[in-house]
Amino acid sequence: MKHWMHNSIKDALAACPKMDTLDKECILAFILQKNREYIISHPEKYLSLLQKMRYLWLLRKRQNAVPLAYITKHKAFFGLDFLVNKHTLIPRPETEIMVEEVLKHIQQDDTLIDIGVGSGCVPIAIAKTVAKKNKHITLYGTDISSKALKVAKKNTKKHGTSISFYAGNLLQPIIQHVCVPKHSPTFITANLPYITEEQFVQEASIQHEPKNALVAQDNGLALYKELLIQIKDWETKPGDIRFFFEIDPLQSKELSQIIHSSFPNSTVFVKKDLAGHNRLIHGTIEL
Ligand SMILES: C[S@@+](CC[C@H](N)C(=O)[O-])C[C@H]1O[C@@H](n2cnc3c(N)ncnc32)[C@H](O)[C@@H]1O
Repeated sequence: MKHWMHNSIKDALAACPKMDTLDKECILAFILQKNREYIISHPEKYLSLLQKMRYLWLLRKRQNAVPLAYITKHKAFFGLDFLVNKHTLIPRPETEIMVEEVLKHIQQDDTLIDIGVGSGCVPIAIAKTVAKKNKHITLYGTDISSKALKVAKKNTKKHGTSISFYAGNLLQPIIQHVCVPKHSPTFITANLPYITEEQFVQEASIQHEPKNALVAQDNGLALYKELLIQIKDWETKPGDIRFFFEIDPLQSKELSQIIHSSFPNSTVFVKKDLAGHNRLIHGTIEL
């Protein structure tokens, strides 16, 4: 990487010509703690030596395929800004479908449990939207990773939402510590790890993300199968459960069959993402 002579934003953007200009603008915005519009409209602004060194260091990281979100520590999801780090999955646009679908159905006084919260993007996006409509819902979140939960808690505070978080395996901590009301529906959202080891190895773009946030055994379905068993064995379970599970498009048929055979009174729908792939399985489990 060539070092430029002068330290202006214009010079900085000219460095690494092969790199995406948008990435460079975002990294500069992050370093200068300004927005991208400022970077574009102030080409003459000078960087300090420290800022320049930091820029070069972050450009090198980006060249080594570290996702931009891990460099800037931020990612937009559902129109909101979320803190992320190497312990959390970077929120994906396709997960917004889950949020949209929940928002179509959730009502005043319902309960929502998000399993595998990561950055907390799903329950926080739901909580923020519901609050705008002056509705009250009770929210819980679990994650096996206490480091991810730390980020989710920070995001909850940042967005002024109220969510009770528990560390543990899937629904287990909720079963142990929470008595959910029986008179109103309980929504269970989950974007659990669902890709196979082979898919993980083949996908270069995800190598910097936590493997335990992406990969599951049993053709990627191990955790959803375990979650369904936990729901079935939940002694104090609510009478009416609405579930929303993000999946790999190839899993929709098998997972639908598993849900139907575990809960004969269930209804199951499949929703496609913008690319036309089956992405969300949702429905009701009446017990
Ligand atoms: C695909 S990420 C989804 C994160 C977030 N919900 C999102 O959509 O961006 C899956 C999350 O599930 C968590 N996880 C993995 N195994 C788990 C388990 N057995 N119980 C609870 N959470 C688990 C991971 O730590 C990770 O944060």
